[in-house]
Amino acid sequence: MRRVAVAVFSLVLAALVQLIGWTHRPTEGKKASVELLIGVLSARHHHDQRQAIRDTWMGNIRQHPLFHKRVLVKFIVGQRGCLVPEEDREDQYSCSLLNLSTVPAQEVQLLGVSGHSLLIPSDVSKLSLHFTVMHPLVITQLAVFSNTAQGLVRGNVTEAVASAEFSAVSPGTRVGWMLYKPVEQFILPKGFEGTLVWEAQDSSELKTVNISAVKLNNGGGVLKLRPIEEGTLPYRNALGYPGLAGGFSFKVYHVESLVEHIHGRPARLRRRSAQLKQEDEALELENQTHGDLVFVDLLDTYRNIPSKLLKFYNWSISNVEFDLLLKTDDDCFIDVDAVLLKMESTQRIAHTRGLWWGNFRQNWAVDSVGKWQELNYASSVYPAFACGSGYVVSRALVQWLGTNAQILKPYQGEDVSMGIWMAAIAPRKYQDPGWLCEKECFSDMLSSPQYSPEELRSLWDNKSRCGDPCGCS
Ligand SMILES: *[C@@H]1O[C@H](CO)[C@@H](O)[C@H](O)[C@H]1NC(C)=O
Ligand SMILES: *[C@@H]1O[C@H](CO)[C@@H](O)[C@H](O)[C@H]1NC(C)=O
Ligand SMILES: *[C@@H]1O[C@H](CO)[C@@H](O)[C@H](O)[C@H]1NC(C)=O
Ligand SMILES: *[C@@H]1O[C@H](CO)[C@@H](O)[C@H](O)[C@H]1NC(C)=O
Ligand SMILES: *[C@@H]1O[C@H](CO)[C@@H](O)[C@H](O)[C@H]1NC(C)=O
Ligand SMILES: *[C@@H]1O[C@H](CO)[C@@H](O)[C@H](O)[C@H]1NC(C)=O
Repeated sequence: MRRVAVAVFSLVLAALVQLIGWTHRPTEGKKASVELLIGVLSARHHHDQRQAIRDTWMGNIRQHPLFHKRVLVKFIVGQRGCLVPEEDREDQYSCSLLNLSTVPAQEVQLLGVSGHSLLIPSDVSKLSLHFTVMHPLVITQLAVFSNTAQGLVRGNVTEAVASAEFSAVSPGTRVGWMLYKPVEQFILPKGFEGTLVWEAQDSSELKTVNISAVKLNNGGGVLKLRPIEEGTLPYRNALGYPGLAGGFSFKVYHVESLVEHIHGRPARLRRRSAQLKQEDEALELENQTHGDLVFVDLLDTYRNIPSKLLKFYNWSISNVEFDLLLKTDDDCFIDVDAVLLKMESTQRIAHTRGLWWGNFRQNWAVDSVGKWQELNYASSVYPAFACGSGYVVSRALVQWLGTNAQILKPYQGEDVSMGIWMAAIAPRKYQDPGWLCEKECFSDMLSSPQYSPEELRSLWDNKSRCGDPCGCS
């Protein structure tokens, strides 16, 4: 009924447009109208993944006499590529420049206490400082301010990569205000995320220092410390107490490669710039050929995916008339027949205004390191969120998200971000295990993730041959 109304309205509008001679804007009022809009999150250089989808489940929609009127598929791509060459990024998830500018001297002391700084007794017995290694390095010594503490450095593995105990009998070597002890030397690779921990039997035995009185030396950028707040001591522990109870010294591993890295940067930047130009052209051509890309205005990086999704929601409301929106990724298989069939046959799907139809994860732990590192969501678990291989939301929800795209905070990962945003408005969750969270294959699945282009083609071949994507007997 509504679609008919829209069609009639479009006709009237088209007639009006002709009447007033507005012919220089031919697309005015021509909004695509479908039941289901499918948005496929895709990285700029994933040409093969997109082609595999066009050749398989998406191609079927386009050729199908009825489906192509009911379903529209768009790939969501960031308008801008990262100009920083891969070797010059702080990590593979963002586009931040790894700013290694100088080769540090032989050994670097993280902490230099200048003059007569005040050492304050701590009121907790454990303090820590997080850091990330930006160029391979070796920790040579650990340091504390007091002689009854233990210092250790932990990586993402439970075992310490360096540790030292300080006591009255064995206080270590005093350098200025600090006591140093050598540790067993390991090479910490680029990307190593460590935590320097100081512990004492009694809180009063840990001495901390006012940040204004110390200089932190990151060795010309080979070490990145978690942001330090202005006017406070470096790191607030779980109890909210800020503190720095010591430090360490380190050496750059393989100085030659650091020198080479710094010298090679200008040439790498030039190459990347040329490469990006080609990438832009290839994308434009791809869009001219297939017309199925939506370019959203942002830098196409992993960390930006939550914003990318919001910008797509915003775009979709203005550009497509749809009832439901299905979000998926470019490595996923979608059984569109099964999705449409379920949409028709399930009352809850057809008639729920604030519908969120997916396979929900509950009590998912918040990570503090690695790809899923979350520094902004201060809780140990996330609110329920749908697995990213596929979920469906109603237009009303997309409208709310799209309208608020500018002010919703992006967290790490688009799926957990969705969970956090949706927690504020209590959608009607429809739990359906057909949207698979892991790479598995079931003949009646709605979606499944993590396939290579070849595997997607194989699933599709199987389904075309015998109706079962997982194989024909
Ligand atoms: C890189 O570091 C140098 C020296 O620390 C600094 O002068 C420069 O502004 C930094 N560049 C960027 C892009 O951060
Ligand atoms: C630990 O960190 C290293 C990088 O330092 C990373 O390569 C590795 O995958 C991480 N391991 C786990 C279990 O997170
Ligand atoms: C830290 O030192 C600064 C300047 O030396 C001083 O203004 C500030 O009050 C000190 N903070 C604490 C907590 O002692
Ligand atoms: C991509 O193609 C679509 C459909 O032809 C078109 O509407 C859109 O303007 C194109 N986008 C760009 C950035 O060229
Ligand atoms: C999209 O976002 C802009 C702000 O960036 C806002 O003005 C506009 O209303 C949004 N559109 C929709 C359809 O929500
Ligand atoms: C397709 O079917 C064959 C056997 O019929 C099976 O070996 C293969 O794993 C299937 N493809 C996928 C991606 O599951």
